[in-house]
Amino acid sequence: MQSSNMQFDLIRQSATVAMADRILALKASGHNIIGLQVGDPDFGTPPAIVDVALKAMQDGLTHYGPSRGFLDLRTSVASKLNRDEGVSYDPASEIIITHGGIHAYYLAMQSILNPGDDVLVPDPSWATHSNMAIMLRGNVIRVPAPAENGFIPHFDSWLKAFTPKTRAIVLNYPSNPTGAYPTREYLQNLQDFAAKHHLWIVSDEVYGSLYYEGKPTSAAAVTGAKERTLLVNSLSKSYAMTGWRVGYLAAPARVIENALKAGQNSITCVAPFIQKAATFALTDPAIQKVTENMRTAYSRRRELVLRLSHELESDKVKVIPPQGAFYFFLDLRALKMSSIEMCEKILDEVGVGLVSGSAFGEQGEGFIRMTIAASDEDVEAGFRKIVAWAEKQ
Ligand SMILES: Cc1ncc(COP(=O)(O)O)c(C=O)c1O
Repeated sequence: MQSSNMQFDLIRQSATVAMADRILALKASGHNIIGLQVGDPDFGTPPAIVDVALKAMQDGLTHYGPSRGFLDLRTSVASKLNRDEGVSYDPASEIIITHGGIHAYYLAMQSILNPGDDVLVPDPSWATHSNMAIMLRGNVIRVPAPAENGFIPHFDSWLKAFTPKTRAIVLNYPSNPTGAYPTREYLQNLQDFAAKHHLWIVSDEVYGSLYYEGKPTSAAAVTGAKERTLLVNSLSKSYAMTGWRVGYLAAPARVIENALKAGQNSITCVAPFIQKAATFALTDPAIQKVTENMRTAYSRRRELVLRLSHELESDKVKVIPPQGAFYFFLDLRALKMSSIEMCEKILDEVGVGLVSGSAFGEQGEGFIRMTIAASDEDVEAGFRKIVAWAEKQ
């Protein structure tokens, strides 16, 4: 029999997908399930964005487009990064339009990694950050980001994890699943460490506009950072456009040249009519207002959970207020039960869909991820059910 790529044996099937399948099966058999497992805004894409895409299709933008992306879109990305993050990028050479944030991350890693390179990834973190590095024949070293330190690695953990083969550090702030983000000072120290050892920093900032405390600093924004930082972002979470598959990578020109080759030889280009809709989304003032309202809704639901947690006073479910993104990473370590078992039981016994913390790494064991990208009613009912279930264990 022919052999296949053995790197894939190192990757587990997504626990999130397995859970989603189980939930679908339960729903199909008539069960009433509160789905708090998804990482997808519960809002529709603003209709004006849809109109722009339809019009672009009717106008004939249904053929190949430039692989880098249209210049007007790259220019609006550069303006956004300048305005929101205080970092200036040349739209001609330092930005490429991608098929969502996940593809931006893929292009970033493919552009810088050589087989056998070590990649430092915090634990817990979104599984794709590790899986992608493994698929590209990198070697992932997990850096503990314990709850007791606000889900940010102790600085000496980076020093301990570093090896002469380390090529890159992967960051994702605000984090999926914890919502945490570090201070500007911490990022400066990490960038200085990366500079000393000639490392790349790949920073996934897809939740960058969703924050509830002081605005997070972009990893590219601190002194000396831009030349070693690959910034991953997309319109998925911030504009409720997950299905459109549009994002971008901003990085030094020589990295973008590699990313361009990788893009041309895989997807060719992002659909031109989608690029037009993305330009409109990033620049139209009324759309910024709509997305502001979505952020207000997430903030209200976050407050709702914090209020309920105060009211219910559970010793079993510890709530750590997320600083950003749209998840709670609930601490149920008091139950001394595996995260997967907890999620299965909560689904089967009280009908709430969640994601097990262990899907994000060893440090996530004992935690469950609950989304607030769901209606206020579902968030409240779901959280009450989780607490009631935990109290009975
Ligand atoms: C941390 C993180 N990065 C990237 C993505 C993917 O984003 P996109 O839809 O832009 O590919 C997700 C989706 O859940 C995510 O949680």
